[in-house]
Amino acid sequence: MQRCEALAQHSELPGGLTRVFLSPQSRAANELVLGWMREAGMSARLDAIGNACGRYEGERPGLPCLLLGSHLDTVRNAGKYDGMLGVVTAIECVHALNTENKRLPFAVEVIGFGDEEGVRFGTTLLGSRGVAGTFDAKVLAIPGFVEALRDFGLDPARIAEAAKKRNEVLAYAELHIEQGPVLEAEGLPVGVVTAINGFSRLRCVLHGEAGHAGTVPMRLRRDALAGAAECALAVERIGRSDPELVATVGRIEALPGAINVIPGEVAFTVDVRAPRDELREGAVQSILAAFEKIRGDRKLGIKVENLQSQGVAACAPWLMAQMENAVAAEGVRVMRLPSGAGHDGQAMQAIAGIGMLFVRCKAGISHNPAEAITEADAACGARVLERFIRDFAPAC
Ligand code: GLV
Ligand code: MN
Ligand code: MN
Repeated sequence: MQRCEALAQHSELPGGLTRVFLSPQSRAANELVLGWMREAGMSARLDAIGNACGRYEGERPGLPCLLLGSHLDTVRNAGKYDGMLGVVTAIECVHALNTENKRLPFAVEVIGFGDEEGVRFGTTLLGSRGVAGTFDAKVLAIPGFVEALRDFGLDPARIAEAAKKRNEVLAYAELHIEQGPVLEAEGLPVGVVTAINGFSRLRCVLHGEAGHAGTVPMRLRRDALAGAAECALAVERIGRSDPELVATVGRIEALPGAINVIPGEVAFTVDVRAPRDELREGAVQSILAAFEKIRGDRKLGIKVENLQSQGVAACAPWLMAQMENAVAAEGVRVMRLPSGAGHDGQAMQAIAGIGMLFVRCKAGISHNPAEAITEADAACGARVLERFIRDFAPAC
């Protein structure tokens, strides 16, 4: 937890935590993490997409690895544990092995992914997609991305070098705070994840007509912000239409943005998630139909861009079983639960089976500076992860 505190010092905002992909603050966090990896007996380097990577060799050099990781970027005004806890705990586990000079029949690698939140460029999992070899070259066209990579000392032409091959990775395992209230309600410090819900992310722009806020009568207006407000309510209504569904308008920007001007253009984002792909895809279709109706009624123009979507990522049953054994061996009742939040495993499933262990967090609060965990729960999560690593057996 002290290491999470130390990482939280690297923030854009004094008095709050914001650390986005490829920022100077993320460079400083990477340096800190690479140092901890070396202290834990790993060789450590920054990869071609800006992830902090450490490797602890197995019984002989060059063996395939059990890959552990989580992310080092944050949302704006974030908590200190979302992502970071998984990175520092994995390093601690390797440190424990190294202290005993214990080598396993596989290598252990730890990655602090550079981008899981997608805050800076709107598209998410850029670090883990780089490692999974699924980095989408269209991202290079996002304004500012190539410049940010270069400023970070990376070469856009070499991103493919971050990719690992399927036969190099035995499994991907991640410890993360739950970011929800289920473990707390069950009185459990940890739980085993069954699957990560899928998501769809849209960027929408409504076009109306800017005009004088004092002179244009209400009936003659084409106010893009009033239209966007109606769209946001439609997203909320559709999100509420099924208990398994969530839908959010998380960002909105009105132009020209003056107190005395009718907004002529409004851009906003939509994030839809569900544990079943058909439910999520149906909700997106309903949202688009609702937007079309609002657009028509208000005589607005609309452009909708599908930023990114990702199906449900199921955790591998054989990894879940091994995590459950580790949980039970710590004397904790085994509980399985799905993840409503997104995680790097969604990208890593392209090259390896994925498994996740959740640690209870206070009142389920996350993406909020009030995010909190206890030392005892963090220690329990670390013991379970360490046991899982020591007993890990690759799938046959
Ligand atoms: C990341 O935390 C996400 O679920 O969007
Ligand atoms: Mn997050
Ligand atoms: Mn996270």
